[in-house]
Order: sequence, then structure tokens, then C-alpha cells
Amino acid sequence: MTISGTDRMLELVMSLPEQIASGAKAACSARIGRAGRFDAVVVAGMGGSGIGAKIVQGLLLDECRVPAYVCNDYDIPAAVSAKTLFVAVSYSGNTEETLSAYAQARKRGCRIIAITSGGELGRLAAEAGYPVVAVPTGMPPRAALGHLFATLLVTIERLGVCEGHQSGLEEAVRLMRGSRRSWLVRARTIAKHIDGRLPIVYSTSRMLDAVADRWRCQLNENAGVLCHTNSFPEHNHNEIMGMGCPEHPGRNVVVIALLDRETNARTRYRLESVLDITEEAYYLAMRLESEGRSRLARVFSLVMLGDLVSVELARLRGEDAMEIDRIVELKRRMAQKRG
Ligand code: F6R
Repeated sequence: MTISGTDRMLELVMSLPEQIASGAKAACSARIGRAGRFDAVVVAGMGGSGIGAKIVQGLLLDECRVPAYVCNDYDIPAAVSAKTLFVAVSYSGNTEETLSAYAQARKRGCRIIAITSGGELGRLAAEAGYPVVAVPTGMPPRAALGHLFATLLVTIERLGVCEGHQSGLEEAVRLMRGSRRSWLVRARTIAKHIDGRLPIVYSTSRMLDAVADRWRCQLNENAGVLCHTNSFPEHNHNEIMGMGCPEHPGRNVVVIALLDRETNARTRYRLESVLDITEEAYYLAMRLESEGRSRLARVFSLVMLGDLVSVELARLRGEDAMEIDRIVELKRRMAQKRG
């Protein structure tokens, strides 16, 4: 029996905890060399391959003394040096921005690791003698987040960049396994509210910024809709003035506020005040609280809920959640132009 693209995407989203467990295991046994002292960790990756790095960055901001930078472009920052740990993440291994960043990191003499399922990056890194941590093939990159995230986190832990997250990883896996069915039911309700409206996702702590980004990317790619994101409290100093203008989509906006127990109490008050002041500017506001004990589990409680919402919205809209024809067409044109 063949299943629809959207059902296949749902299966993949539901497998997020198993992916995290398997990615962590693979990275534990990968040959990556010795731990070192680095001046920074820089991770290059685009789209579905970059978001895992942003989630790691969000977790490390409050835990790690070494700065972490995520590069979503062709060029690496000027500060990258021979003392920098550089990780190139490309699921396909063929993304030109990531390959360009990788080539620049080589020239700067960085300590390099590649995370990929193969492609050009896998080939080049292996030829150059850099460790290649493999992720399984055959998935859309955005649906391999569990593998990409856990592989990256455990790899940089082993290299001494940050403390271990073993218990957080285990808790995230347990929480997602135990809650995924009920989250799916909730996701259907949320998707019904969003259908036909513009979702605006607000993060309320810097750890959640990457989660809001993940919601946006999944709503874009799986459900084929626009989505806007911003962070509190920064929003309060600019975007608050633009809410509801132009009037269309004004009342067609659904605000989704992502909250966590680390959200500053003042930021919570800011959110409630903004929602009150701008009442005319949206149709509905939802407040979604993270679940779980560890920061890692809390992050993934909201990541998985967002992924499920994107698939359920695709279903409501009659979209195939696997289909990303415009991205494919653009990549084709860029490859042709290379000459
Ligand atoms: C496709 C997807 C895209 C890709 C991006 C980079 O599922 O999520 O955002 O992740 O185009 O490609 P990779 O991940 O192969 O480097």
C-alpha cells in the first residue's frame, strides 16, 4: 500500500525521538579525534540542516563559555581562525552555501568536522582526512532534524566545547514518546485555527528563538504557507507599532506565543500587555508552554508540536507535505548557472 506524502511526513515527524536516540548513539561512537580548546564553534548549514545548529546555539548561550555562531551563508565570519572548531552540516552534502563555507574554513586552517549523509561534502571532507559523521540517507533534510541535532550536539560535547547533555537527551526522547499522540490531537486543533490565516510565532526567550524559526520553516516547507516570527522583548520596541497594519491580514492573524519556564516574568507581562493593547490586530492568540524538566526536553516539546502542526496544516490545505517544488527548481537553476 502506498502512503501519501503527508502521511509519510507525519511518520517522519513522529520518529523525532527515535532519531535523537540514534543520532546521539552514532555520534558517541564516531571517530572524531581528540577534545581540544577552541576560541569559538562555528556551524555552517542551510535550511533543515542549519536549524539543528540554531537549536544547539540557543541551548549553549546560557551554558557555554565559547561563542557559538551559525553560518547560513556563503562566507564565514572574519573572526574564524585556526583555533576555531568548524562543523559543516549538510544533509545532502550538496548545498553550495555550506560547501563554500567549508572551503573557506579549510583555508583558515580550522579544526573541521562534516555531518552529512554523503554528497560532495562527504566526499571532499573524507578526501581531506576530516572526520565525517554520517546520518542515514533517504529523508528530506528537514525531516532528519533529530539525527542532525543530536549528532551535532554529541560531537561538540565530545570535543570539549560544552558539558554533556545525556540526561536531557534521554528525557526529551521519553517525553516525546509519551506525548506524541496527544500532541498530534492538539496540533490538529491549532492547525484548524491557522488554516486560511497568517501565523505569527513569537519566542519569549533566546533559547526559544530557534524554535520559532523551526515553526516558520516547517510551516513554509510542509504546509506551503507564509509565517512571520519575532522575539520578545525586542518586538516591544518596534513591531508592536506595525501590528494590524495593513488591516488585511490584520484580523486574519493568529499569534502563537512560545513560552518557557525560563521566560522572564517581565517578558510574560509584556506579552499579556501587548496582546491587550493590540487586540484589534489579530484573530486569536495562543500561548504554548514548553513541557518537561530539562531545557533540551522543553525545547523539543515545542519543536515537535510545531512540526505536527505543519503536517496537519498541510493536510487541511490539501498540500503534499513532502513537496518542495520551488526549492528544487531554484536549486536546479543555480546549478545550471554555475557553468
Ligand atoms: C528540505 C529542506 C531544505 C534543505 C536545504 C539545505 O527538506 O529542509 O531546507 O535542508 O535546502 O539542503 P541540505 O540540508 O541538504 O544541505
